[in-house]
Formats: sequence, structure tokens, C-alpha cells
Amino acid sequence: MSYEELMLRAITKADAFKYTAKPNPVVGAILEKDGEIISEGYHKLFGHRHAEINALRSAEKLKNIKFNSFSELTLICTLEPCSHIGKTGSCADAIVKSGIKRVIIGSVDPSSKVSGKGIEILRKNNIEVEVGMHQDLVAKQNRFFFYRHKNNMPFITVKIASSLDGKSHYKNNERVFISSKESREDVQLLRAEYDAILTGTNTFLNDNPRMNARVNFQVNQPEKILLSTSLGVIKNTDRIPFFQGGRVTHIGTNLLERVLPILLENDKCSILVEAGPKLANAFLKAGYVNELIIYTSQKKLGQNGVDWFKENNAIENYGFKLESSYKINTDLKEIFKRNE
Ligand SMILES: NC(=O)c1ccc[n+]([C@@H]2O[C@H](COP(=O)([O-])OP(=O)(O)OC[C@H]3O[C@@H](n4cnc5c(N)ncnc54)[C@H](OP(=O)(O)O)[C@@H]3O)[C@@H](O)[C@H]2O)c1
Repeated sequence: MSYEELMLRAITKADAFKYTAKPNPVVGAILEKDGEIISEGYHKLFGHRHAEINALRSAEKLKNIKFNSFSELTLICTLEPCSHIGKTGSCADAIVKSGIKRVIIGSVDPSSKVSGKGIEILRKNNIEVEVGMHQDLVAKQNRFFFYRHKNNMPFITVKIASSLDGKSHYKNNERVFISSKESREDVQLLRAEYDAILTGTNTFLNDNPRMNARVNFQVNQPEKILLSTSLGVIKNTDRIPFFQGGRVTHIGTNLLERVLPILLENDKCSILVEAGPKLANAFLKAGYVNELIIYTSQKKLGQNGVDWFKENNAIENYGFKLESSYKINTDLKEIFKRNE
């Protein structure tokens, strides 16, 4: 296999771990000799060993069987090896120590902790380094991680379910499922992708949501964030579904500019806002939203429904354009992107 084919393989196989590596990026690493794969490693679980270390350890077992010295091998890795001694030790140092002499990297790591420092360690130790092979694919598959580190902002998506007549819920808060069962299942997948789900006081009180990702595969459950000034200290949390399973953060301010830095804590890169019209519109108005996802059903709520948006053309006026749309059963799912 060529280096390019091996890079594509590492990118593709790394994707399998996107729900368990997050909020870390997914990374793949392959050690090869004369086009033959000697070993592969992936970053499978947040806080666990990095891809490069996994590949090195697997190759170690084949030394003197498939190769004699690591200097005969080339390392292909999708993201720049880390330079910091984090939870697992520096990958760049481990590569140097192994005796590898050539490394091919997909993309530079955009985080300030690494960003070029890993490559510098390799080059200083006389390792031949090539950077940029399929870097767009690596950035795309880690779009939340790249966005966060390039902008020092979380990637924020607002997700809403709308009736055909543009309503969010009934004025009297009577329970209603707006979108279909299939759309609601799609939302579970969406939740699984994000590092946190954020909501506001009224949704928390009226819907009593669990707001976890109910999927049939392993996932790092998203943190749950409640923005509420009126609720004060919440008691008896063991009886409230929202507080079960995973980390919960209660932020007691309505000032979104103060909220943003808190959203970056615990390495978070992506936030899914699942709130009612008040909080969803506040995020949109502030210009903090990157993506807007709307599930529109055939149901109408009529006069007793609360509008998602007060003005006509609100979505366009907020600076979004439709990127894709498709049917989920009888619902329509539309993804809007902010005009950059
Ligand atoms: N169709 C859907 O997709 C969908 C999704 C979610 C919810 N809902 C429905 O929406 C209803 C609630 O909607 P809602 O619009 O009344 O309330 P909401 O958006 O869920 O919550 C609004 C509350 O959040 C708090 N908040 C914190 N920061 C804020 C900010 N910067 N701007 C605005 N609010 C902020 C405020 O409470 P404090 O004064 O306590 O700070 C505010 O009253 C629920 O009944 C639920 O059924 C529908």
C-alpha cells in the first residue's frame, strides 16, 4: 500500500472511535515497512493511550519477526504527535525513543499545547517529517476539535423541532411530541456526537428531560448544562432525571458572553443547545451559533402554539443558509450553516 492509501485507511478506521475519544480528536497511526502494515493504533477512549503509542506497542511484539529495527519503519499518523506529557506521556518523545526515522503526518494539531511542537521534537531528533497528507479530511473528521482550538470558542449547534406552522410547544405547556419517533431517534445520534447538551430553566422544568444520548453503542455521554438564574441551588438532584448519569453543570447567569468560557471547560469542543424559543433565540441573536438543525413535522399546533421565531425570514436574518435537507419519515430535517 502507498503512504496515501495508508493515511486514508488510518483516517477511516479512526472514525470508529469518534463517540468514545471525544472531546479528544480521533487519531489513527500505522507503522509500515515497504508498503506492508506492521501495526496499527487508534485513540479509542478519552484519557487512554494515544494512537501512536498503541501502534508502537503492537509493533514491539513483531520486532525480530517482521523487522529488525524501528529505523526500518515509517509511521503514518493522522494528527501531529503530541509534545506534552498529558495523561499518557508525550507521543513525540516515544517516537524518538523508538528509533523511527520517518514520520508522515496528516495535519498539524491546532491546539496551543501541541501546534507544531510535536513536529519540532521529531525534526530536532533527525526524523524526516512530511506534513499535510489529507489534512482537510483530518480537519473535517475532527471539525469540533479544530474549530474550538482555532477560534478559542466552542462549536455551537442549536437543534429545534418545529411544527409545520413554526411552533415550538403549547402556550399552556401541555406535553406534545412534535417530531416523529424516527426524528427523535436521529436526535439521540446527534446528542452522542456532542460534548455537552445545554438547556434553559423552562425546558428543564416543563419537560423534565434526561438529555442523555440513548444509543445502542458505547459513547462518552455528553455533559449536561443548565442555564438558569431563577433556580438557585437545586435540591434532591437524585430524584431529577436531568441529574442522572454523567456530569451536570448549572450555570447561574443569563449573560452568554460569561457562559462561553465555561463551555470550554473540561476540554469541551461542541455544545448542542436543546432549549425553547427564549434561550435558542438568545444564542442565535448573539451570533454564537455555528449550525442550526430543524426537524419540521406535518403537525400543526395552531393559535395555542408558541412561535419559534417572531420575525419572518429569521433564519436568514440570523445569517444562516441551508446546507442540506432530507426527509425522515414524514418529517423534514434541515441543516443550516452560518454564513462565514
Ligand atoms: N420543540 C422543541 O424542539 C423544543 C425543545 C426544547 C424545549 N421546547 C419547549 O420549550 C418550552 C420552554 O421554552 P422557553 O422559551 O419558555 O424557555 P427555555 O428557552 O427553555 O428557557 C428559558 C429560560 O432559560 C434561562 N436563560 C438563561 N440564559 C438565558 C438567556 N441568555 N436568554 C434567555 N433565557 C435564558 C432563563 O431562565 P432564568 O430566568 O431562570 O435564568 C429563561 O427564562 C418548554 O415547555 C419545552 O416543551 C421545545
